[in-house]
Amino acid sequence: MNEKQRMEGQLAAAADPSDKKSEKDYSRYFETVYAPPSLKDAKKRGKEEVRYHKDFNIPAEFQGMGNNRKFYIRTFGCQMNEHDTEVMAGIFLSLGYEPTDTVEDANVILLNTCAIRENAENKVFGELGHLKHLKKERPDLLLGVCGCMSQEESVVNKILKTYDQVDMIFGTHNIHRLPNILQEAYMSKEMVVEVWSKEGDVIENLPKVRKGNIKAWVNIMYGCDKFCTYCIVPYTRGKERSRRPEEIIQEVRQLAAQGYQEITLLGQNVNAYGKDFADLQYGLGDLMDEIRKIDIPRIRFTTSHPRDFDDHLIEVLSKGGNLLEHIHLPVQSGSTDVLKIMARKYTREQYLELVRKIRAAIPNATFTTDIIVGYPNETDEQFEETLSLYKEVGYEAAYTFIYSPREGTPAAKMKDNVPMEVKKERLQRLNALVSEMSAEAMKKYHGQTVEVLVEGESKNNPEVLAGYTRKNKLVNFKGPKSAIGKIVSVTITDAKTWSLNGEMVEELQPAEVK
Ligand code: 5AD
Ligand code: SF4
Repeated sequence: MNEKQRMEGQLAAAADPSDKKSEKDYSRYFETVYAPPSLKDAKKRGKEEVRYHKDFNIPAEFQGMGNNRKFYIRTFGCQMNEHDTEVMAGIFLSLGYEPTDTVEDANVILLNTCAIRENAENKVFGELGHLKHLKKERPDLLLGVCGCMSQEESVVNKILKTYDQVDMIFGTHNIHRLPNILQEAYMSKEMVVEVWSKEGDVIENLPKVRKGNIKAWVNIMYGCDKFCTYCIVPYTRGKERSRRPEEIIQEVRQLAAQGYQEITLLGQNVNAYGKDFADLQYGLGDLMDEIRKIDIPRIRFTTSHPRDFDDHLIEVLSKGGNLLEHIHLPVQSGSTDVLKIMARKYTREQYLELVRKIRAAIPNATFTTDIIVGYPNETDEQFEETLSLYKEVGYEAAYTFIYSPREGTPAAKMKDNVPMEVKKERLQRLNALVSEMSAEAMKKYHGQTVEVLVEGESKNNPEVLAGYTRKNKLVNFKGPKSAIGKIVSVTITDAKTWSLNGEMVEELQPAEVK
């Protein structure tokens, strides 16, 4: 089976013929209008009810649009973006386009962008620069920018002004409008800009083509209402909107039936799941309690906010089984004062208490985190508190960042007395601690036998297989290619800082998988 056939198979399996057409008229679903983003609108949080659409289909006039055409999507940023790319790939395929993995071959190129830090944005602008010559050579090529950067007023203005090689810009809320936007771009000489700054809707039955057939992402909610003072996400991803539990459960069941081994439930702040339901008292704990009964070996979730991590969720997670004992719990800073300025709405002590509670319920839980150093006016002492918290929790890994001002966020307006040199030094010190503690955590695996979900050949050596443990540790080992996609037992013979080497013991039979 080639890649296109595999993707088409997925699309056919996902189609739900029982979907009823909605009778409501949502005119903006059918008209392409010039709509640039507005920061002012993106900030607003209205009380409007979330509307659920199950009526997505490709209008007859667009069918076959992609015949003899190829698409290429380059994805930047987080898993949410990766998953959006899977949806856009699904739409392209439904339109008759074929996938390609080289830009030279493509008739449509999309950059699915990330806005979280300045360097993420710079990468995209650099890529647009590289692609300019292709557009000159082949003026019929369509070049599009979508994802989080498209939701930013300043970015769209910059592209309009200086990147005339771009044919279309659309945002995170109107991915389902891709067919209309493509059509408009083929017909128009102007740049097509369609970004919705306010969104209250959940679109359900979009086609999607998943990247592999071992692990899958499942959105459980969209948006974020937390407005941490540094973060652009509440502006680019809109208000919190939860998918209905039955839709999520059905999707996970389908994935289990298709043989997927691991799913990751996705949301910007998954612990706020269900808070927006007007008619239902239902949270992440309830959802996990249902999903754990589905016959799928591994379930993860990301990203958690400590503030909303409630006792019911902890109780459900303590049931173990396919709920994994690895908790990614972004702390951002170990200083209560900095946390306050970040508007994280918890103190150092409250965070530590949460970790203690989780450990009491799940004694073998491991923690990883996200940390920002060099927040405006962060003092040496406050930074030291981050180091001491890191040790106290005993994290096994972390994503660490230097604070990057994001236009339109409250922190971007703060005066900052910390020189960049100092921020870089702090990051280096923190990273040294992160490496040291990761190496220490890895050493403990020496001689242990662990369950590994085998994902494929190792990137560096095709003779070796690679996969991840329940706690998300990368393991390399020699084994038969038939182990790919399965959970096998591996005895660890060598522990490195970021990965483990081992020897395969046996293939686990499904009943043995804990
Ligand atoms: N600067 C630096 N890091 C940031 N993050 C979010 N916004 C910023 C910013 N403006 C980090 C946080 C978050 C992770 C996804 O990215 O640590 O948890
Ligand atoms: Fe950003 Fe996460 Fe804070 Fe939401 S909870 S504002 S996504 S850091």
